Amino acid sequence: MAKLTRRGLLCATAPLAAAPLGLAAVARGRDVTAAPHDHSAHRSLATHDQRAAMIGHAAMIGEGAPAVGGPNDLDDLLYPPPALPYRPGRVRDYTLVATDEEIEIAPGVFFPAWTYNGTVPGPVIRATEDDILRVRFVNAGVHPHTIHFHGIHPTDMDGVFEIVSPGKELTYEFPARPAGFHLYHCHATPLKKHIHKGLYGAFVIDPKKPREPARELVMVMNGFDTDADGENNFYTVNGRTFYYARYPIRVRQGELVRLYLANLTEFDLINSFHLHADFFRYQPTGTGEHWEYTDTVMQCQGQRGVLEMRFANTGTFMFHAHQSEFTELGWMGYFQVGED
Ligand code: CU
Ligand code: CU
Repeated sequence: MAKLTRRGLLCATAPLAAAPLGLAAVARGRDVTAAPHDHSAHRSLATHDQRAAMIGHAAMIGEGAPAVGGPNDLDDLLYPPPALPYRPGRVRDYTLVATDEEIEIAPGVFFPAWTYNGTVPGPVIRATEDDILRVRFVNAGVHPHTIHFHGIHPTDMDGVFEIVSPGKELTYEFPARPAGFHLYHCHATPLKKHIHKGLYGAFVIDPKKPREPARELVMVMNGFDTDADGENNFYTVNGRTFYYARYPIRVRQGELVRLYLANLTEFDLINSFHLHADFFRYQPTGTGEHWEYTDTVMQCQGQRGVLEMRFANTGTFMFHAHQSEFTELGWMGYFQVGED
């Protein structure tokens, strides 16, 4: 039987909305007869107009959006811990435990993930510049892993050579620098596998001179290869398809919204973020004085940056990858902007 390709699944996106369990069976490779797999049929389904008619964006909001779970499930990933004012010598302690978990990324679609603390992406790590960051890493999985932090630190804290075997642990400790928005991920080999299985997360280092108070959000863009063919079948921010379409992110008109955006998508060269009906300013890597004023940014894997916006109007503002394929495979959501 012909293997279902990523494009084949794309054409099956309409069934995702209508009958997600059928797609789940395909994505897990258990029962391919439960969903279309004839490629000529896919092509006939795949014309733009037909697909748009079936998965029109207007319907992809609230209950109509195929997302897993309740309204607060991803709060710990979306809302970072608060910034702390600089204080010399402070230690910031974190514990990360690598575990193997089946996670549900779309209704009925499970992915055999390797996680930090049970979620993909892992927890948001935050420190102020020159805090001592101390991260105890416990490997409770069945493969060797590490944590490689982006930033400036001694090379024996870099998570490349000090492989942590299953059942073992290692504590990383170094001053957090430079201020900016960074990331962390496993650096065991094969690297591609350890990343695409889910071992990565966001790492915020606040400047000593604090940023202006804001409504702060974190989004890690990623993909999931659910049929192990080396291509992503689903795309998300913070790990679940269409989650912020089902549960739009509430912000206030005119308030400063600061979004820490990172790309950990494996297999695809780039990912992107596009905001509808307003603009934002973008600071690459969260460092330096250069801000771009735009409504669309793209990031290669490992790139990240800080977006700041103040919504001029109230209403429902879509955001999504500007690769429309990624959008239709799960990477889409909304800001719900109110007066208060
Ligand atoms: Cu690993
Ligand atoms: Cu990296």
